[in-house]
Amino acid sequence: MTPPPNRTRSSTRRSRRATPSPSRVQWTGPDRVRVPVTDLGAHGHGLARHDGQPLYIPDALPGETVEVRIVDRVGDGWRAEVLSHLDPSPDRVEPVCPHFGPCGGCTLQHLRPAAQAAWKRQQIIDAVTKRGLPVPDVDPVVAIPPGHRRRCTLGWRRTARAVLLGFHGQDSHRLEDVHTCPMVASDLFVLFASLRALLEDITGAGDAGQAILTLTDTGADCTLTLDRPPTLAIRERLAAFAEDADLARLGWLSNGTVEPVVERRPPTVLMAGTPVRLPPLAFLQPSREGAEAIIEAVRARLPASDGAALDLYAGMGTVTFPLAAEGRAVHAVDENADSIAALSAAVAPGQPITTAVRNLDSDPVGGAALHAFEAVVFDPPRAGARAQATALASDGPPHIVAVSCRPATFARDARILVDAGYALGRITTIDQFPWAAHVELVAGFERRPAAALSD
Ligand SMILES: C[S@@+](CC[C@H](N)C(=O)[O-])C[C@H]1O[C@@H](n2cnc3c(N)ncnc32)[C@H](O)[C@@H]1O
Repeated sequence: MTPPPNRTRSSTRRSRRATPSPSRVQWTGPDRVRVPVTDLGAHGHGLARHDGQPLYIPDALPGETVEVRIVDRVGDGWRAEVLSHLDPSPDRVEPVCPHFGPCGGCTLQHLRPAAQAAWKRQQIIDAVTKRGLPVPDVDPVVAIPPGHRRRCTLGWRRTARAVLLGFHGQDSHRLEDVHTCPMVASDLFVLFASLRALLEDITGAGDAGQAILTLTDTGADCTLTLDRPPTLAIRERLAAFAEDADLARLGWLSNGTVEPVVERRPPTVLMAGTPVRLPPLAFLQPSREGAEAIIEAVRARLPASDGAALDLYAGMGTVTFPLAAEGRAVHAVDENADSIAALSAAVAPGQPITTAVRNLDSDPVGGAALHAFEAVVFDPPRAGARAQATALASDGPPHIVAVSCRPATFARDARILVDAGYALGRITTIDQFPWAAHVELVAGFERRPAAALSD
């Protein structure tokens, strides 16, 4: 492999100098230090140590020696800024986006895709073995390429001169004014410029908020946040914007409530051919291709049968509808009442889907209620599903499939299931977040026969 050009020069393009912020603990070491980078941290920063103190270094890769200056205290260590890369890694590549560095949207564009995939796969193996489980079989990464993200949350701020619209820096409140973004789907990115123009018209200096964009199958849904209700003049401008941009829906979020200001078409997402109406701000898998990969990996871990399935943390039914389409009766549970209402409303007459709104952390499905199912799928948020996994450990069905966006909590929950007699099968890694440090996985568990437990 040919190493990229030497970067002993200052790397200002990607690391516009951050101003050190005051912190209680002061750095007492030298202004500049040279350190070897030993690993990548959970946020995609290079990890190093100086005098035993951890350093977290954006734009630094394992194997590199970098010269850095300390910027700020962070957690148990220090955030540092690269002044020069002394011996660039062969896995270093030129980032494709001019916003890489200041923009917090991507943290790994400087790492060769194959090395990103290997790192993500290794995150899963490390998390599982750290819990004392054997090294799992982890399939090669299913990578969803950039340009497929169908949702994003942009920050915006009106300064005296202009509207800034983009993503916040990784470790700062600084807003990068984004004029290109290879990560999001082009049908979403095309809205950035007209959104900026809209915000120029309807906001005043000092205003700030978010624009939450989702590309549904019937067009874009946009929710703007501002801490005051829209005036009549603003409503008219919003209606014109929705028309010009051909939005499906435009909402306004203030005081914790979303008002649907304009709805030109119902914003719906097809789940196994069933259109489900997207509630404002509801969870949706970040790409259609990623959702399909998850569904395929879940299906592959279930027996070919029509046994009843329990879909826990079901959201709007990404997994529910495909399982029902196979002839299974599916019971879908989620704490988000809007998501469950959307899922229920989409169920066709005779479709064998039932639903419940339930907090599965404080009130997991357990005991005899689990005996009605041949299989359980659970897909919790990053915190994982400790209470639900404990309930499954005692009374779970023969087949369990876990979908997870955080290897550490997955491994904790997996350990609970394995200790109760489940065997962990192959793990599929799905990368819906190229250039970011997120890792997603699907794993199957089979209850081992009682005789095998004494082995
Ligand atoms: C990663 S999403 C998965 C949603 C769905 N399975 C999908 O693929 O679209 C996690 C879901 O967990 C739900 N959730 C979060 N905390 C919960 C809790 N304590 N009890 C039940 N559901 C919860 C969220 O509302 C969200 O729908």
